[in-house]
Amino acid sequence: MKKDDGKPPLICLENIRKSYTEGSVVQRVLESVDAEFAEGECVALLGRSGSGKSTLLNLISGIDKPDGGRIVIGGVDITALSEHKRTLFRRKNIGFIYQFFNIIPTLSVLENVLLPLELNGDNSKERALELLGEVGLLDRKGDYPDRLSGGEQQRIAIIRALVHDPIIILADEPTGNIDKETGRHILDIMERLIRRKNKNLILVTHSKEVATFADRLLLLEEGVLKKKGTEIVW
Ligand SMILES: Nc1ncnc2c1ncn2[C@@H]1O[C@H](COP(=O)(O)OP(=O)(O)OP(=O)(O)O)[C@@H](O)[C@H]1O
Ligand SMILES: [Mg+2]
Repeated sequence: MKKDDGKPPLICLENIRKSYTEGSVVQRVLESVDAEFAEGECVALLGRSGSGKSTLLNLISGIDKPDGGRIVIGGVDITALSEHKRTLFRRKNIGFIYQFFNIIPTLSVLENVLLPLELNGDNSKERALELLGEVGLLDRKGDYPDRLSGGEQQRIAIIRALVHDPIIILADEPTGNIDKETGRHILDIMERLIRRKNKNLILVTHSKEVATFADRLLLLEEGVLKKKGTEIVW
């Protein structure tokens, strides 16, 4: 739920602009995006294909940099950081769940889940094993991803985004490539491991059911974010 406890917002987006240039063609994707996210909020980000949702997640995560504007997370202006510092900030504070899972095929299930810890110089395995147990995949820890179903791969992708205990989880259509029933199971896991732990979640989705999961909806349209309240008109 949105907190009204006088705390400053955890994430502030101020006048974010982003264009892509290919040859002599400039495509303005984000014209002026402004938003604030309170600590512990779960927000669904909607918008038609090509409206810039993934672009915006990549900017918030620090994978990419805006052309203008500021992104302030926990008081840190990540747009003012060097690329190296931004990478370190991302590895520590952000968990990313991708639409196509992004599981590394040459690593075992456990090695995939351990990756974010290793990038932070942490060699412990307890939390990875505990999370594998939480999603019912502990006995699959030595398997390679090609032996897993789509839903199982997505469970791995979720716990990999959580294993280093980030404050913010960004999820790009986390149920986009799995069937409805499995999608519901994934939402249950997200409820248990993200919402009840009071993490921040920004969730891109085209699904009404997934959007209902959020505290608040935002619509990306014509390069700006529009508030949708909690009313969903599809
Ligand atoms: N790296 C890139 N280089 C050039 N153009 C890009 C790049 N990334 C995205 N775009 C363009 O920017 C626009 C927004 O893309 P984006 O992937 O953010 O949309 P989206 O809202 O996530 O769409 P979808 O719902 O289909 O995933 C698209 O027109 C896309 O072609
Ligand atoms: Mg996208």
